[in-house]
Amino acid sequence: MKQKSERRQSSGSTLIKHVLLGLIVFLALFCLYYGSVVAPYSPKLHDEDSTLDPFLGGFVDDSGYEFQPQNVDSLVPKSIPVCDMAYSELIPCLDRNLLYQLRLRPNLTLMEHYERHCPPQERRYNCLIPPPIGYKIPIRWPASRDEVWKANIPHTHLAQEKSDQHWMVVNGDKINFPGGGTHFHDGADKYIISIARMLKFPGEKLSNGGNVRTVLDVGCGVASFGAYLLSHDIIAMSLAPNDVHENQIQFALERGIPSALGVLGTKRLPYPSRSFELAHCSRCRINWLQRDGILLLELDRLLRPGGYFVYSSPEAYAQDPENRRVWNSMYGLLRRMCWRVVSKKDQTVIWAKPLSNSCYLKREPGTQPPLCSSDDSLDKAWNVSMRACITPYSPKMHKGKGSGLLPWPQRLNAPPPRLEEIGITAEEFQSDTSTWHFRVGEYWSLMKSVLQRNTLRNIMDMNSDTGGFAAALNDKDVWVMNVATVNNDSKMKIIYDRGLIGTVHDW
Ligand SMILES: *[C@@H]1O[C@H](CO)[C@@H](O)[C@H](O)[C@H]1NC(C)=O
Ligand SMILES: *[C@@H]1O[C@H](CO)[C@@H](O)[C@H](O)[C@H]1NC(C)=O
Ligand SMILES: *[C@@H]1O[C@H](CO)[C@@H](O)[C@H](O)[C@H]1NC(C)=O
Repeated sequence: MKQKSERRQSSGSTLIKHVLLGLIVFLALFCLYYGSVVAPYSPKLHDEDSTLDPFLGGFVDDSGYEFQPQNVDSLVPKSIPVCDMAYSELIPCLDRNLLYQLRLRPNLTLMEHYERHCPPQERRYNCLIPPPIGYKIPIRWPASRDEVWKANIPHTHLAQEKSDQHWMVVNGDKINFPGGGTHFHDGADKYIISIARMLKFPGEKLSNGGNVRTVLDVGCGVASFGAYLLSHDIIAMSLAPNDVHENQIQFALERGIPSALGVLGTKRLPYPSRSFELAHCSRCRINWLQRDGILLLELDRLLRPGGYFVYSSPEAYAQDPENRRVWNSMYGLLRRMCWRVVSKKDQTVIWAKPLSNSCYLKREPGTQPPLCSSDDSLDKAWNVSMRACITPYSPKMHKGKGSGLLPWPQRLNAPPPRLEEIGITAEEFQSDTSTWHFRVGEYWSLMKSVLQRNTLRNIMDMNSDTGGFAAALNDKDVWVMNVATVNNDSKMKIIYDRGLIGTVHDW
């Protein structure tokens, strides 16, 4: 009853929110059909023939994947032209041509050329990005985990380069993903079990009873590790830069795997502190010792109390003097950061971050790296330079020896401890959760008649607030990229505390 009367009172704003949600879902649908949500692939709307729009027309069937735009022209202002085909893969703020044109001199050693550099106003393209020639409606999840249309991502260089590692194989008009990676030629499934075994988790399950839920995979390749984690009830934010390997994230998104372009360079990754239970870097060729360990300190910021770092690299096992030297330096640095080796086997080593401040407080005065000063805003993550300091825990986390989160899936709808940091009460949180449950239920049933099963996979909530929309979609076979705007990003930590993923973004 209480909820009902509230709903009536706020019916005006509710209506606006409904319209906004409708728009968001509509946009997400659009993006989805063109293969990707995070990469700025906008629909091609140039052909005279009409589009099979999911709302207006519906799909005929699965057999004819050939995409033929129809009457969507009427929905788009005539004044927006279509970009030249040369820009069919343009990502405006991650466009390396722009760096040359503007004569910016990014520091290549620091990976600055893979970080965001947005074009000045006069250099922005006001045109619609066309899809590649022969574009087809993407293969649906879960089949898309293992195969995508070659026409949608006309790059096969990676398949040749990584052929011995079973990343991907060109197969006629498709590209297949056998589930391998540089460090796991035999497939990600076996690798995931081997990590769980190293950690001595019950039943060799990496989720450890729901206590490992959010994972950060840096240098993810085509995100096969993240793809196979999903069936273990673990969600990974898989990161890779748009580098010499072509845009690996394009493949990951086409496959329907949560992922984003990103690099450990000079700026903080766009996530709040203490977001991930596990960070993973296999053969990612990152020099962790550079700049006083600043990249490890960024991982330290992002890991939750007791969080794990799974690392495999020649330094961890090779016996030659150079690798021994790197290993010893890294070991010393991580010890000073109070991390400990939990397990070391074959080519993999797993570290764990401390659960409380006790170890930091016991360090000799002057020990490097220093603790961050308390005026450092640890959760600010957009366009903020990384700092080479250790992020200590709040008194509450120190006392609780951990983040105080329930295991997944209970944590999805339970008010997380960090709510109080952003001034939201448990009641407000619960009311928001049930409101979104109701709304998403309504939308899903409205859309049922025009959507076939599994037509939705990559969804983006452009203004995610505390993640109620994504939480309500949890029982559907979709994933949601939650996005908080730059000047309103304090709630992103709630997204992660619920066991969801997201990013800060400047629209
Ligand atoms: C790039 O950064 C490194 C490390 O900070 C520095 O030593 C080097 O001089 C920089 N290079 C340029 C071209 O600025
Ligand atoms: C980051 O901040 C700097 C300095 O404030 C600004 O010049 C730059 O454009 C910003 N970059 C992005 C991607 O917002
Ligand atoms: C942040 O978001 C909330 C809810 O979406 C809104 O009420 C508030 O005005 C926003 N704050 C800013 C600074 O935009």
